[in-house]
Formats: sequence, structure tokens, C-alpha cells
Amino acid sequence: MPRRTILALLAAAVPALGGCSTIQSALDPAGVNARQVADLWWLMLWVLGGAFVIVMAALAAALFAPRPWRGRLRGTTMIAAGGVALPVAVVPVFLIASFTIDWPLVPERPDRLTIHVVGHQFWWEVRYTGPGIDRPIVSANEIRMPVGQPVQFRLTTEDVIHSFWLPNLAGKIDMIPGQVNHMEITAERTGVFRGQCYEFCGAQHAHMAFMAVVMEPGDFASWLAREAQPAPAPAGPEEERALQAFLRGGCASCHAIRGTPADGEGGPDLTHVGGRLTLAAGMLPNGEGSMGGWIAGAQTIKPGNRMPNFNGYDGETLRALSRYLYELK
Ligand code: CUA
Repeated sequence: MPRRTILALLAAAVPALGGCSTIQSALDPAGVNARQVADLWWLMLWVLGGAFVIVMAALAAALFAPRPWRGRLRGTTMIAAGGVALPVAVVPVFLIASFTIDWPLVPERPDRLTIHVVGHQFWWEVRYTGPGIDRPIVSANEIRMPVGQPVQFRLTTEDVIHSFWLPNLAGKIDMIPGQVNHMEITAERTGVFRGQCYEFCGAQHAHMAFMAVVMEPGDFASWLAREAQPAPAPAGPEEERALQAFLRGGCASCHAIRGTPADGEGGPDLTHVGGRLTLAAGMLPNGEGSMGGWIAGAQTIKPGNRMPNFNGYDGETLRALSRYLYELK
């Protein structure tokens, strides 16, 4: 092989290997179910890798070995061993190993902390219920959960089929119209992980992501208590002006900000939008700048999503509105 080809292959392999340890990788498990899935994956890799080496050795022998060796490869014993006995022995190993994985789909447990996730084109509605939570706590496009505790996910959709996949934490489960699936995830370490819709659901399917933040139980409890609070009243004239622009500009027909007259339900709840890591379902890092960009150019950034471009605000109002929303922590 020419040296340039070898170098190109090595260069191509580097990002692939980098994929082994990231915030969105089934090979870097941080949850009970994901670890079992990863173990099965490695078992399959080693066994099938071994089979691949044996087949390639036989192929090389068939092409280049001395004639008596090649004759032996043609024999019935070889065909029975490699073509029948080996697959018959290997397939049950995989079958049994896959049965040992705890199926993450579980019956409903009302006594558990439950995170309701509803798929929408192209965002995630998130609600927290369970022991100690009086009223569902509504959020969007980000999930927070305590480490070391089984958390129940209640998954469904309001439009087309989506699929909920957090590769570092568990296998994927479809979100099906008219059907509710319950799934249990136990995270094994704290961290920030990225989830992704795994069922083609329209033009922006690839941009339907979310972040999952696994926290210490104490940190999670205080975060949840904060998240349950309504938004603070506007602190000054600039915030008041921003809120009025939000209400009059039409934002409130789709978005809610608890504690204000805005109570729309068609889009993400924005009560604590400034506290999220990303905007637009994982597309943009959260910040005042991206907030303004998203308000004015949602259709340019994510064509086909349900939010129109709100490009009628003058610069000063748009800046005030972006700052007000980003300060809703
Ligand atoms: Cu939602 Cu793909």
C-alpha cells in the first residue's frame, strides 16, 4: 500500500477512535443499561472479530497456500465445521448474552421520580412528577436526573414517531403516537450527556437533540426546587419592556413563562430557559447572542421548525428581550 494511503487511513481512524469516549457514545457507558449494552457489543466485537480473522486466514490459504493445504480446505469436514458447526455454536452465545440485559422497558411505577418526555417536531417537552412534587414541573430540551437512583421515563409523542436515545445511559425506545412507553434509567456517574432523536421525524430530525445532566442527589433536589418556582417579576424598566415585547409580539401564544401572563403550550416552556445548556433542542449554545439570533432567525437556523422568524423587533428591543430570557435561570 502506498504510504500516502496508509497515512490517510490512519488520519480517518483518529476521529473514529475519538468517538469511543464522548458525551454521546454507547461505548462510554455511564448507566446500568448502557453498560450492559456496551458489554454485549464488546463480546460481539471479539467473537466476530475472531471469526473474521479465521475466514480471512482461510481465504489467504485458499489463494496462496501449497496445493495439499488448499485441498484440505475443500473437504466436507472443513465446510461442516466452518459453515455449520461454528455458526450454530456462536449464535446461541449471542442470544443468551442478549437475554441477560435488563430490558429497560418497565411497567409504570408511580412511586418513582418520573420524567415525562413528549416528542414534538422538533423538540422535547419535559415534565417532572413523583414523590414530593405537588404539581408537574415543566421544562424542555434538557433532562436533569440524580445519580445512582432509578428514574422512570414516561415516553410518548404528540405528532409523529420519534425515538428517545441517550447512548451513554441506556438503549433507545421509540415514542409512538397514542402509546406510552415506560423506561427506567439508573445513571452510574455524574456528568453531561447528549441525547438524540433516533427515528426520522421530518426535516429537522438530525437537529432534535437534548442534554441530560446527571447530578448528585442533593444538587438535583435543589435544582428541582428552583425549577418549580415561577419566573421572578421583571426587575426594572428594561425587563418590563422585554416582557411586554414578548407578550405583544406573539411569543406568548406558544410559550409559557410561569409567573407572567404568558401561558402558551405549543412550544417549549421558557420559565427557566436561561438555565439550560442549549437552545433550539441542542443546536445552539445558550447565551444572549444565540437567544437573539434564534428569535430573529429561527427559520434560517432550523428551517421547517414551528417557530417563525420574529424579525420585526428593533435592535434595542431584541437585545432587551434576549437578555431578559437569558436571565430566566
Ligand atoms: Cu424526532 Cu427524529
